[in-house]
Amino acid sequence: MPSMNALPPTSKSSPDGSVKKAPVLHWGFFVLWLLLLPVAHAEGQPPAAAIASAHPAASKAGMEILQAGGNAFDAAVTVSAVLAVVEPYSSGLGGGGFWLLHRASDGKEVMIDGRETAPLAATRDMYLDSRGQPVARASIDGPLAAGIPGTVAALAHISKHYGRLPLKQSLLPAIRLAKEGFAVNEHYRRMAAFRIDALRASKSAAQQFLKAGEVPPLGHIIRQNDLANTLQTIAEQGRQGFYAGKLAQQMVQAVRTHGGIWSEKDLLAYQVRERKPLVGHYRGWRVVSAALPSSGGVVLLEMLNMLALRDIDSMAEADRIHYLVEVMRRAYRDRARWLGDADFVDIPLKRLLSKEYARQLFASISMQKATPSQSLAGFKPAGRDTTHFSILDKQGNRVAATLSINYPFGSGFVAAGTGVLLNDEMDDFSIKPGVANVYGLVGAEANAIEPGKRMLSSMSPTFLDSEHGVAILGTPGGSRIITMVLLGLLQAVEGNTVGQWVSQPRFHHQYLPDEIQVEPGAFSEKLQQELKQRGHRLSIKERPWGNMQALYWNRKDNEVEVASDPRGGGLAIKSAK
Ligand code: GLY
Repeated sequence: MPSMNALPPTSKSSPDGSVKKAPVLHWGFFVLWLLLLPVAHAEGQPPAAAIASAHPAASKAGMEILQAGGNAFDAAVTVSAVLAVVEPYSSGLGGGGFWLLHRASDGKEVMIDGRETAPLAATRDMYLDSRGQPVARASIDGPLAAGIPGTVAALAHISKHYGRLPLKQSLLPAIRLAKEGFAVNEHYRRMAAFRIDALRASKSAAQQFLKAGEVPPLGHIIRQNDLANTLQTIAEQGRQGFYAGKLAQQMVQAVRTHGGIWSEKDLLAYQVRERKPLVGHYRGWRVVSAALPSSGGVVLLEMLNMLALRDIDSMAEADRIHYLVEVMRRAYRDRARWLGDADFVDIPLKRLLSKEYARQLFASISMQKATPSQSLAGFKPAGRDTTHFSILDKQGNRVAATLSINYPFGSGFVAAGTGVLLNDEMDDFSIKPGVANVYGLVGAEANAIEPGKRMLSSMSPTFLDSEHGVAILGTPGGSRIITMVLLGLLQAVEGNTVGQWVSQPRFHHQYLPDEIQVEPGAFSEKLQQELKQRGHRLSIKERPWGNMQALYWNRKDNEVEVASDPRGGGLAIKSAK
């Protein structure tokens, strides 16, 4: 459990309380200091490595790579690649993601941005008909919905610049699993049923993910030989094996034959970006989270800046939920209004993250009455499936990674002969700025489609760091990702167990629709009545949401605790000490 007690100061006073003279620095002292350095460093290392991911096969494969001498970054490559095989509805080689890294040796923090980009032939109105109306499902089903994938480039980059092992070794478990296959579980069946039309529309997808055109039965083995060959090519040739040559040609040809607009130039031009993560502070904790083009870090820090202005611990339950909802509403309004790919549009980031701005927003919150969202302005939430994993190795290297192909099974389209299931991340753009898209979502100018631009995301891989310990967390869940990370983070700061961070009941407000979304059973009748009296509309959902994977290294007790969301079928594991 994270302790809220401060650690003893690192500087030592003399036992008798006297002030000692500064020691004279000479060579003997210097050599002694050098000898002691590894010991001092070791005190700053966790006693065990830990991994939490959404699939047992991925967590186990990551641990295998750590035991084979890899570091957390090699394990991140392995876990990402295995998830691409065993969780095809969540992420994959045809998708993208954000990998937040912390390197223990020098404290470097970086976000590897492998987000998809709009194809070079993309146009602002590409999903609108001649009357300017959105064409139903055009940005969701089939290869026209697919952005240029970033996952493979990101994995090759992480392996080359941060890993210890060759990419070939880190990809081995994924290749093995693609060949040997994995067993269909209930979740797979639910996701496949949800996307059955899109999967049937692609002959290669139907062959790969269905059985005789139907949702496969429980226990059916999904073998993916084309995907195994693609992974093998990447293992041998690195990113070039995917973005150039035969595989690239096959993908482009398949996309174009079925109405898409990719070109070989798009694949060749794809660039991974190293982004400086966003950093903020909340009640003594340093919060490190995703940079743009994810909205996650901005929205999270904006919410924390507002929350820091009140003592939420001493509030009655209804006051606390009301206040959190009002904070969520305002931060999501700004997501809609201002955020997009900062490489393409100017974003008033400094202002949005300033304490002064938080005070202005805070001043507009009434504790007695809900603020109608209509009295604020602008909005755009995101998709329905994604995946997250968290890793800590024994050196203290950390990874929080959230990856996606957007909707379950992405666009539902597999490029023939490659095994690569393409994303439908183009739907994360505002397909018509200012107007609701087919899912009733409204976006803004900053997130309009432009060739080569990255679509706005909600993925929020996050670290918390203080003298007490280090937390690594994140979750899938579309537009609800950021509020889930906020609720998890508040649990961590309050000193609760990692099991509680991932399992607590959830609620969410995202400005529009103007309602508090509530997990079944999360709010008592009394709380519901109290919130309604303040003018809130409640939408109690039938199903819970999210699949948080989190871990905590308690520096004080030198313990590592790891947990996987009970809502999902993931696995949290720890190495021996
Ligand atoms: N496609 C989900 C997200 O990026 O937010």
